[in-house]
Amino acid sequence: MNPAVLHLPDLYRPIEADLARVVAIMDQELQSELPFVAQLCERVRGYRGKMLRPALLLLSGQSVAGVQGAGGVTSEHHTLAAVVELVHLATLVHDDVLDQAEERRRQATISSTNGNEAAVMLGDYLISHAFHLCSSLDSQSASRLVGHTTNVVCEGELMQIHSRGHFKLSEPDYIEIIRRKTAALTAACCRLGATHAGADETLASRLEVFGESAGIAFQIVDDILDVVGEQKKMCKTLGRDLELGKMTLPVIHYLREASAEKQDAMLKKLASAEHDDRAHVAQLLTEFGSVAYATSVAEQHVSRAMNMLEGLPESASRTSLLSMAEFIIQREN
Ligand code: IPE
Ligand code: IPE
Ligand code: MG
Ligand code: MG
Repeated sequence: MNPAVLHLPDLYRPIEADLARVVAIMDQELQSELPFVAQLCERVRGYRGKMLRPALLLLSGQSVAGVQGAGGVTSEHHTLAAVVELVHLATLVHDDVLDQAEERRRQATISSTNGNEAAVMLGDYLISHAFHLCSSLDSQSASRLVGHTTNVVCEGELMQIHSRGHFKLSEPDYIEIIRRKTAALTAACCRLGATHAGADETLASRLEVFGESAGIAFQIVDDILDVVGEQKKMCKTLGRDLELGKMTLPVIHYLREASAEKQDAMLKKLASAEHDDRAHVAQLLTEFGSVAYATSVAEQHVSRAMNMLEGLPESASRTSLLSMAEFIIQREN
């Protein structure tokens, strides 16, 4: 039996009002008296993404309410949720420079319309706003965690740049890259949500592992979709991982398990991959079982994430967190 199709607005129901508040804080933060800067801010505000990171933070905060005296979501959570989405936005604007991407959230990327220089500075501007906003909280632990997280995210992106074109990249090294570049932020979201609701260290760690495992699964699926996904549904440029020699799990599996002859043919393709090669590579990876393998690894991380929530009391927010973990595997965008 196919699992029920999940829709994010349903999963976000317990935090609907909180998310509206987060959007208002972001809109307030992203203002400039300089028309050119204001116009760029308007661009990044114009089309919202899935808002997964703020949702993880808010749902984590709500899910620990009542456990050992922990409270629920407070105005601090709203600010922190805006902070993590601003950090995410910054990484996207910079990532589109690195990946020479043309489309993001159904719009032209900043780098494609305004050039790499403006995109690099806008990304810096967004991260600077994230730290500025975070410092308004007077919470040293939050500022330290957000700062630590952005350090780790940058290390992950740098590791990825360093390993570009290394077709022998191992699966553990790939997992380490995505743990840093993607899962560090989702882990921090869940920890921040929990600690700022008053959760103790054991509970905060469990939620952090939930966020990390979900983040690893999320990036594995994103990488699968970069090869086999539909650009129309994903609303962003696909195929760049292959073109830029970025190793992803299905390719790692294929190059590890296929016959020497098949491996050679794939290596030749990867060495000079062009946009037109995407469909053919997708077919090879699917037929050989490499897409199924990568999906199964993502599923294992999702199971690990879900196990972390076992000690939490039944609640709408706990159910939503579990469904978000499932959504990661199901998603088509
Ligand atoms: C895209 O993240 C970047 C990755 C970590 C793969 P999302 O898919 O969450 O992006 P938006 O926020 O919904 O646009
Ligand atoms: C980006 O990874 C990860 C970040 C931390 C920004 P991708 O390059 O796969 O993200 P998309 O596919 O462009 O969204
Ligand atoms: Mg990219
Ligand atoms: Mg991607």
